[in-house]
Amino acid sequence: MSPNHWYPAAFSGEVKKKQLLDVTFMGESIAVYRAEDGTAHAVENRCPHRQIKLSHGSVEGCRVVCLYHGWTFEPDGRLAGFKHDDFGKKLPVISIASYPVREKYGIVWFFPGDPELAKITPLVEIPHADEWPSMRFAYTWAAHHSMIIDNLCNLTHLWVHGRWVPYGDTILADSSAEGDRLTLRWEHDLRRDLLHPFTSPVFRRSKGENLSDTFMIYDYPYQSALSNERIRSTNFMLPIDDTHTKVFTYQLWEPPRGVPKALFQRVAIPLLAPVAKEIFRQDGFTVEEEQKSWFLHGHRPIPEPNPMVKRFNELTVRKWEEHLAYRETGALTEAQRAEQTRVKVL
Ligand code: FES
Ligand SMILES: [Fe+2]
Repeated sequence: MSPNHWYPAAFSGEVKKKQLLDVTFMGESIAVYRAEDGTAHAVENRCPHRQIKLSHGSVEGCRVVCLYHGWTFEPDGRLAGFKHDDFGKKLPVISIASYPVREKYGIVWFFPGDPELAKITPLVEIPHADEWPSMRFAYTWAAHHSMIIDNLCNLTHLWVHGRWVPYGDTILADSSAEGDRLTLRWEHDLRRDLLHPFTSPVFRRSKGENLSDTFMIYDYPYQSALSNERIRSTNFMLPIDDTHTKVFTYQLWEPPRGVPKALFQRVAIPLLAPVAKEIFRQDGFTVEEEQKSWFLHGHRPIPEPNPMVKRFNELTVRKWEEHLAYRETGALTEAQRAEQTRVKVL
Protein backbone atom coordinates (compact mmCIF):
# COMPACT_ATOMS: atom_id res chain seq x y z
CA MET A 1 0.00 0.00 0.00
CA SER A 2 1.18 3.49 -0.71
CA PRO A 3 2.77 4.96 2.44
CA ASN A 4 1.54 8.42 1.48
CA HIS A 5 -1.69 8.18 3.46
CA TRP A 6 -2.73 8.30 7.11
CA TYR A 7 -2.75 4.80 8.59
CA PRO A 8 -4.03 3.58 11.95
CA ALA A 9 -1.27 2.72 14.41
CA ALA A 10 -3.49 1.76 17.34
CA PHE A 11 -6.68 2.69 19.12
CA SER A 12 -6.09 5.73 21.33
CA GLY A 13 -6.73 3.76 24.53
CA GLU A 14 -3.96 1.31 23.66
CA VAL A 15 -1.31 4.04 23.63
CA LYS A 16 -0.99 4.77 27.32
CA LYS A 17 0.95 7.69 28.80
CA LYS A 18 4.71 7.00 28.98
CA GLN A 19 4.32 3.73 27.11
CA LEU A 20 5.68 2.60 23.75
CA LEU A 21 4.18 0.30 21.14
CA ASP A 22 5.92 -1.54 18.34
CA VAL A 23 3.88 -0.99 15.15
CA THR A 24 4.90 -2.52 11.82
CA PHE A 25 4.11 -0.89 8.48
CA MET A 26 5.19 -2.95 5.46
CA GLY A 27 8.08 -4.54 7.31
CA GLU A 28 9.29 -1.31 8.96
CA SER A 29 9.07 -1.14 12.71
CA ILE A 30 7.80 2.12 14.21
CA ALA A 31 7.80 3.09 17.89
CA VAL A 32 4.52 4.77 18.77
CA TYR A 33 4.31 6.38 22.20
CA ARG A 34 2.39 8.80 24.33
CA ALA A 35 4.36 11.60 25.99
CA GLU A 36 3.76 12.75 29.57
CA ASP A 37 1.72 15.69 28.22
CA GLY A 38 -0.65 13.22 26.51
CA THR A 39 0.45 13.81 22.91
CA ALA A 40 1.14 10.78 20.70
CA HIS A 41 4.33 10.46 18.64
CA ALA A 42 5.90 7.99 16.22
CA VAL A 43 9.59 7.50 15.47
CA GLU A 44 11.68 4.90 13.69
CA ASN A 45 11.93 1.94 16.05
CA ARG A 46 15.71 1.70 16.00
CA CYS A 47 18.34 3.15 18.27
CA PRO A 48 21.20 4.19 15.98
CA HIS A 49 23.76 3.25 18.69
CA ARG A 50 23.34 -0.56 18.58
CA GLN A 51 20.17 -0.78 16.47
CA ILE A 52 17.97 -2.23 19.21
CA LYS A 53 14.31 -1.31 19.23
CA LEU A 54 13.42 1.92 21.00
CA SER A 55 10.04 0.43 21.91
CA HIS A 56 11.87 -1.54 24.64
CA GLY A 57 12.87 1.77 26.21
CA SER A 58 10.98 4.39 28.19
CA VAL A 59 9.44 7.84 27.85
CA GLU A 60 10.74 10.92 29.66
CA GLY A 61 8.67 14.04 29.10
CA CYS A 62 8.13 13.91 25.36
CA ARG A 63 11.40 12.06 24.64
CA VAL A 64 12.20 8.39 24.09
CA VAL A 65 15.03 6.85 26.10
CA CYS A 66 16.73 3.72 24.75
CA LEU A 67 16.78 0.77 27.11
CA TYR A 68 20.48 0.00 26.66
CA HIS A 69 22.76 3.05 27.17
CA GLY A 70 20.01 5.61 27.56
CA TRP A 71 20.41 7.51 24.31
CA THR A 72 17.51 9.93 24.27
CA PHE A 73 15.58 11.20 21.26
CA GLU A 74 13.25 14.12 20.62
CA PRO A 75 9.83 13.45 19.02
CA ASP A 76 11.32 14.76 15.75
CA GLY A 77 14.02 12.06 15.92
CA ARG A 78 17.03 14.20 16.94
CA LEU A 79 19.44 12.80 19.52
CA ALA A 80 19.00 14.91 22.66
CA GLY A 81 21.52 13.26 25.01
CA PHE A 82 22.47 10.03 26.74
CA LYS A 83 22.73 8.53 30.20
CA HIS A 84 26.50 7.96 30.29
CA ASP A 85 29.87 9.76 30.20
CA ASP A 86 30.34 12.11 27.23
CA PHE A 87 34.11 11.43 27.14
CA GLY A 88 34.63 15.17 26.83
CA LYS A 89 33.10 15.18 23.36
CA LYS A 90 30.25 17.18 21.90
CA LEU A 91 26.89 15.49 21.44
CA PRO A 92 26.99 13.83 18.01
CA VAL A 93 24.49 15.08 15.46
CA ILE A 94 22.41 11.99 14.84
CA SER A 95 18.75 11.55 14.08
CA ILE A 96 16.24 8.86 13.30
CA ALA A 97 13.11 9.18 11.19
CA SER A 98 9.97 10.51 12.79
CA TYR A 99 6.42 10.34 11.46
CA PRO A 100 3.55 12.83 11.56
CA VAL A 101 0.85 11.70 14.01
CA ARG A 102 -2.77 12.76 14.49
CA GLU A 103 -5.52 11.50 16.71
CA LYS A 104 -9.20 11.33 15.75
CA TYR A 105 -12.12 8.89 16.11
CA GLY A 106 -10.29 7.16 18.97
CA ILE A 107 -7.51 6.14 16.59
CA VAL A 108 -3.86 7.20 16.53
CA TRP A 109 -3.00 7.85 12.87
CA PHE A 110 0.51 8.11 11.45
CA PHE A 111 1.85 9.02 8.04
CA PRO A 112 4.61 6.60 7.02
CA GLY A 113 5.38 8.29 3.67
CA ASP A 114 6.77 11.69 2.68
CA PRO A 115 6.06 14.12 5.58
CA GLU A 116 5.62 16.93 3.02
CA LEU A 117 2.59 15.07 1.65
CA ALA A 118 1.22 14.63 5.17
CA LYS A 119 0.78 18.41 5.28
CA ILE A 120 -1.62 18.38 2.31
CA THR A 121 -3.39 15.06 3.05
CA PRO A 122 -6.56 15.43 5.12
CA LEU A 123 -7.64 12.82 7.63
CA VAL A 124 -10.57 10.63 6.62
CA GLU A 125 -14.02 11.86 7.59
CA ILE A 126 -16.61 9.57 9.19
CA PRO A 127 -20.17 10.94 9.23
CA HIS A 128 -22.10 10.64 12.54
CA ALA A 129 -18.91 9.68 14.38
CA ASP A 130 -19.79 11.73 17.43
CA GLU A 131 -23.54 11.11 17.31
CA TRP A 132 -24.13 7.38 16.88
CA PRO A 133 -23.28 4.65 19.40
CA SER A 134 -20.17 2.78 18.34
CA MET A 135 -17.87 -0.19 18.74
CA ARG A 136 -14.22 -0.61 17.87
CA PHE A 137 -12.11 -3.70 17.46
CA ALA A 138 -9.09 -4.81 15.46
CA TYR A 139 -7.85 -8.09 14.12
CA THR A 140 -4.65 -9.26 12.44
CA TRP A 141 -5.04 -11.69 9.58
CA ALA A 142 -2.32 -13.65 7.78
CA ALA A 143 -3.46 -12.36 4.40
CA HIS A 144 -2.51 -9.80 1.78
CA HIS A 145 -4.46 -6.53 2.03
CA SER A 146 -5.94 -6.93 -1.46
CA MET A 147 -7.64 -10.14 -0.32
CA ILE A 148 -9.16 -8.23 2.57
CA ILE A 149 -10.50 -5.46 0.34
CA ASP A 150 -12.02 -8.12 -1.92
CA ASN A 151 -13.60 -9.72 1.16
CA LEU A 152 -14.92 -6.50 2.67
CA CYS A 153 -16.39 -5.05 -0.54
CA ASN A 154 -17.55 -8.11 -2.40
CA LEU A 155 -20.79 -9.31 -0.84
CA THR A 156 -20.99 -12.34 -3.11
CA HIS A 157 -19.20 -13.94 -0.13
CA LEU A 158 -22.18 -13.58 2.24
CA TRP A 159 -22.60 -17.32 1.74
CA VAL A 160 -19.72 -17.89 4.16
CA HIS A 161 -21.65 -16.13 6.95
CA GLY A 162 -24.72 -18.34 6.61
CA ARG A 163 -27.43 -17.13 8.96
CA TRP A 164 -25.11 -14.91 10.99
CA VAL A 165 -26.03 -12.00 8.74
CA PRO A 166 -29.60 -10.71 8.44
CA TYR A 167 -29.58 -10.63 4.64
CA GLY A 168 -31.21 -12.99 2.18
CA ASP A 169 -30.78 -12.61 -1.57
CA THR A 170 -28.18 -10.00 -2.46
CA ILE A 171 -27.63 -8.32 -5.82
CA LEU A 172 -25.22 -5.65 -7.01
CA ALA A 173 -27.65 -2.86 -7.88
CA ASP A 174 -25.22 -0.09 -8.78
CA SER A 175 -21.54 0.78 -8.88
CA SER A 176 -19.29 3.69 -9.76
CA ALA A 177 -15.62 4.57 -10.12
CA GLU A 178 -14.22 8.06 -9.80
CA GLY A 179 -10.54 8.74 -9.17
CA ASP A 180 -9.45 6.81 -6.10
CA ARG A 181 -13.03 6.13 -5.00
CA LEU A 182 -15.09 3.09 -5.95
CA THR A 183 -18.64 2.60 -4.74
CA LEU A 184 -21.03 -0.33 -4.82
CA ARG A 185 -24.65 -0.51 -3.82
CA TRP A 186 -25.98 -3.92 -2.88
CA GLU A 187 -29.65 -4.71 -2.39
CA HIS A 188 -30.89 -7.48 -0.15
CA ASP A 189 -33.98 -8.96 1.40
CA LEU A 190 -34.06 -8.85 5.18
CA ARG A 191 -34.38 -12.24 6.76
CA ARG A 192 -37.50 -12.78 8.83
CA ASP A 193 -37.22 -15.93 10.86
CA LEU A 194 -36.68 -17.21 14.38
CA LEU A 195 -32.95 -16.54 14.23
CA HIS A 196 -33.54 -12.88 13.37
CA PRO A 197 -36.39 -11.74 15.57
CA PHE A 198 -34.83 -8.33 16.23
CA THR A 199 -33.30 -7.79 12.83
CA SER A 200 -36.04 -5.79 11.20
CA PRO A 201 -36.43 -3.00 13.78
CA VAL A 202 -32.66 -2.46 13.93
CA PHE A 203 -31.86 -2.85 10.26
CA ARG A 204 -34.83 -1.69 8.24
CA ARG A 205 -35.14 1.89 7.10
CA SER A 206 -38.80 2.32 7.85
CA LYS A 207 -41.68 0.32 9.25
CA GLY A 208 -43.00 -2.43 7.05
CA GLU A 209 -40.12 -2.15 4.60
CA ASN A 210 -38.29 -5.37 3.87
CA LEU A 211 -35.83 -4.13 1.27
CA SER A 212 -32.39 -3.43 2.59
CA ASP A 213 -29.30 -1.99 1.00
CA THR A 214 -25.60 -1.71 1.69
CA PHE A 215 -23.61 1.15 0.22
CA MET A 216 -19.93 0.31 0.04
CA ILE A 217 -16.94 2.50 -0.51
CA TYR A 218 -13.34 1.70 -1.31
CA ASP A 219 -11.80 5.15 -1.10
CA TYR A 220 -8.15 4.22 -1.20
CA PRO A 221 -6.82 3.08 1.22
CA TYR A 222 -10.01 3.04 3.33
CA GLN A 223 -13.19 0.96 3.20
CA SER A 224 -16.66 1.41 4.57
CA ALA A 225 -20.13 -0.11 4.34
CA LEU A 226 -23.35 1.71 5.21
CA SER A 227 -26.37 -0.53 5.72
CA ASN A 228 -29.79 1.07 5.32
CA GLU A 229 -28.24 4.44 6.19
CA ARG A 230 -28.18 3.27 9.82
CA ILE A 231 -25.15 1.10 10.37
CA ARG A 232 -21.76 2.28 9.24
CA SER A 233 -18.81 -0.08 9.37
CA THR A 234 -15.50 1.63 8.59
CA ASN A 235 -12.35 -0.43 8.12
CA PHE A 236 -8.78 0.81 8.12
CA MET A 237 -6.00 -1.50 7.07
CA LEU A 238 -2.46 -1.47 8.40
CA PRO A 239 -0.35 -3.57 6.02
CA ILE A 240 2.21 -5.32 8.24
CA ASP A 241 3.97 -7.19 5.45
CA ASP A 242 3.09 -9.00 2.22
CA THR A 243 1.01 -11.61 3.99
CA HIS A 244 -0.18 -9.96 7.23
CA THR A 245 -2.67 -7.14 7.62
CA LYS A 246 -4.17 -5.60 10.72
CA VAL A 247 -7.68 -4.22 10.24
CA PHE A 248 -9.10 -1.59 12.57
CA THR A 249 -12.88 -1.57 12.56
CA TYR A 250 -14.95 1.31 13.84
CA GLN A 251 -18.70 0.69 13.62
CA LEU A 252 -21.47 3.19 14.21
CA TRP A 253 -25.10 2.20 14.80
CA GLU A 254 -27.98 4.63 14.69
CA PRO A 255 -30.43 3.58 17.44
CA PRO A 256 -34.03 2.82 16.40
CA ARG A 257 -36.34 5.80 16.73
CA GLY A 258 -37.08 6.68 20.35
CA VAL A 259 -34.16 4.71 21.82
CA PRO A 260 -31.69 7.02 23.61
CA LYS A 261 -28.08 6.89 22.44
CA ALA A 262 -26.68 6.13 25.91
CA LEU A 263 -29.07 3.21 26.39
CA PHE A 264 -28.21 1.74 22.99
CA GLN A 265 -24.49 2.17 23.71
CA ARG A 266 -24.74 0.49 27.12
CA VAL A 267 -27.23 -2.27 26.34
CA ALA A 268 -27.39 -3.03 22.62
CA ILE A 269 -23.75 -2.55 21.61
CA PRO A 270 -22.41 -5.16 24.09
CA LEU A 271 -24.97 -7.63 22.67
CA LEU A 272 -24.18 -6.79 19.04
CA ALA A 273 -20.38 -6.75 19.41
CA PRO A 274 -19.93 -10.55 19.79
CA VAL A 275 -22.03 -11.08 16.64
CA ALA A 276 -19.98 -8.53 14.68
CA LYS A 277 -16.76 -10.13 15.94
CA GLU A 278 -17.95 -13.62 15.01
CA ILE A 279 -18.73 -12.43 11.46
CA PHE A 280 -15.24 -10.95 11.21
CA ARG A 281 -13.76 -14.17 12.60
CA GLN A 282 -15.43 -16.04 9.73
CA ASP A 283 -13.95 -13.54 7.27
CA GLY A 284 -10.52 -13.88 8.90
CA PHE A 285 -10.52 -17.66 8.67
CA THR A 286 -11.50 -17.43 5.01
CA VAL A 287 -8.93 -14.88 3.86
CA GLU A 288 -6.18 -16.71 5.75
CA GLU A 289 -7.16 -19.89 3.92
CA GLU A 290 -7.17 -17.94 0.65
CA GLN A 291 -3.65 -16.68 1.36
CA LYS A 292 -2.40 -20.22 2.10
CA SER A 293 -3.95 -21.48 -1.13
CA TRP A 294 -2.43 -18.62 -3.07
CA PHE A 295 1.05 -19.93 -2.20
CA LEU A 296 0.06 -23.27 -3.76
CA HIS A 297 -2.11 -22.15 -6.66
CA GLY A 298 -1.33 -18.45 -7.20
CA HIS A 299 -0.24 -19.12 -10.79
CA ARG A 300 -3.73 -20.29 -11.78
CA PRO A 301 -6.13 -17.82 -13.41
CA ILE A 302 -8.99 -16.52 -11.24
CA PRO A 303 -12.45 -16.66 -12.79
CA GLU A 304 -14.43 -13.75 -11.31
CA PRO A 305 -17.93 -12.78 -12.38
CA ASN A 306 -18.17 -9.58 -10.27
CA PRO A 307 -16.77 -6.81 -12.53
CA MET A 308 -15.90 -4.59 -9.53
CA VAL A 309 -13.28 -6.99 -8.16
CA LYS A 310 -11.00 -6.19 -11.09
CA ARG A 311 -11.43 -2.49 -10.32
CA PHE A 312 -10.46 -2.93 -6.65
CA ASN A 313 -7.27 -4.61 -7.78
CA GLU A 314 -6.56 -2.07 -10.51
CA LEU A 315 -6.96 0.79 -8.01
CA THR A 316 -4.66 -0.91 -5.48
CA VAL A 317 -1.99 -1.55 -8.13
CA ARG A 318 -2.29 1.94 -9.64
CA LYS A 319 -1.82 3.60 -6.23
CA TRP A 320 1.28 1.50 -5.62
CA GLU A 321 2.71 2.48 -9.01
CA GLU A 322 1.93 6.15 -8.31
CA HIS A 323 3.85 5.84 -5.05
CA LEU A 324 6.88 4.36 -6.88
CA ALA A 325 6.76 7.16 -9.47
CA TYR A 326 6.52 9.79 -6.72
CA ARG A 327 9.51 8.27 -4.94
CA GLU A 328 11.47 8.63 -8.20
CA THR A 329 10.39 12.12 -9.20
CA GLY A 330 9.05 13.77 -6.01
CA ALA A 331 6.20 15.17 -8.09
CA LEU A 332 2.47 14.56 -8.33
CA THR A 333 0.39 15.05 -11.46
CA GLU A 334 -2.50 17.48 -11.17
CA ALA A 335 -5.02 14.63 -10.93
CA GLN A 336 -2.93 12.89 -8.26
CA ARG A 337 -2.69 16.09 -6.24
CA ALA A 338 -6.46 16.56 -6.45
CA GLU A 339 -6.97 13.05 -5.02
CA GLN A 340 -4.27 13.54 -2.38
CA THR A 341 -5.89 16.70 -1.06
CA ARG A 342 -9.51 15.52 -1.32
CA VAL A 343 -11.31 14.83 1.96
CA LYS A 344 -12.31 11.16 1.90
CA VAL A 345 -15.79 10.89 3.35
CA LEU A 346 -16.78 7.34 4.22
S1 FES B 1 21.72 0.74 21.93
FE1 FES B 1 20.47 2.41 22.37
S2 FES B 1 21.63 3.51 23.74
FE2 FES B 1 22.98 1.96 23.14
FE1 LIG C 1 -17.68 -11.04 5.47
